[in-house]
Amino acid sequence: MKQAKVTVIGAGNVGATAAQRLAEKNIANVALVDIMGGVAAGKALDLMEARPVELHDRMIFGSDDYAISKDSDVVLITAGLARKPGMSRDDLLAKNAQIVKGCVESAYKYSPNAIFIVVSNPVDAMTQLTHQILSAKGVPNNKIIGMAGVLDSSRMAFFIAEALNVSIKNIQPCVLGGHGDDMVPVARYTTVAGIPLPDLLPEAKIKEIIERTQKGGIEIVNLLGTGSAFYAPASSSVEMIDAILNDKKQILPCSCMLTGEYGINGVYVGVPTKLGANGIEQIMELKLSDTELKDLKASAESVKTNVAKMNELMKATV
Ligand code: LAC
Repeated sequence: MKQAKVTVIGAGNVGATAAQRLAEKNIANVALVDIMGGVAAGKALDLMEARPVELHDRMIFGSDDYAISKDSDVVLITAGLARKPGMSRDDLLAKNAQIVKGCVESAYKYSPNAIFIVVSNPVDAMTQLTHQILSAKGVPNNKIIGMAGVLDSSRMAFFIAEALNVSIKNIQPCVLGGHGDDMVPVARYTTVAGIPLPDLLPEAKIKEIIERTQKGGIEIVNLLGTGSAFYAPASSSVEMIDAILNDKKQILPCSCMLTGEYGINGVYVGVPTKLGANGIEQIMELKLSDTELKDLKASAESVKTNVAKMNELMKATV
């Protein structure tokens, strides 16, 4: 059987760590593409030289030439600037939109049938930009996905496991909405071995966990001083890719184009989805309370505002 191929665009911390995990977990061969071709080639070679020790069976190539990305099954877009302390994800809007546009157009030329996963921030707007480019070429919505919900849920799960001193395996977190400060962690749908979170933790502690989840990205940015989180974002991306390439039908929260679900239309926002060989195979609709739905809609509105701002900025630079 043919081995799967993933193109990772951007050989920075997220991209290189994703490449490493994809290969070391034997999920896919990786083409690592970066405008700094030497960095991509160097990291790919370094990772290959670890292969005799790690003993995996996958190959990693690196270059600034998109030709190496030909016929990929999945394209993971991590290119772009990361936040510095004091910056919001939205501050990256104009610069990263230009970068992501170039990456999507180049990658599509070599892999028109790939499933595209976007990680670059602000991720919901960048995924919508990818959708604007690719849907015009006939790529369906299910093949254009944003990575954020897995990361946000993973952060929430970690904080809960810590608070309760229970195995991380028992936590089923639920975070909806855009990947911004107004994301919507839903305590009622978050369970620990089937027990709803509000039955296990006092309201004040849940509030603290929700706020820490919402600010999970900036907490790391402030600690690092330069750059933003990459281990958990890379793990989250790889989990999505694994679900797709191995047709796992796994339910994972992803940023996807809503077309009426939750009463939201025409915008990329995070909700639980079923991931399999066709990308997003189903969008799951949870029964939300009025407040939860109001919060989700508010988060979707922020993404819409951002997308409008992005499109204005893009027009101005053309
Ligand atoms: C974060 C960045 C990747 O949340 O958005 O850490």
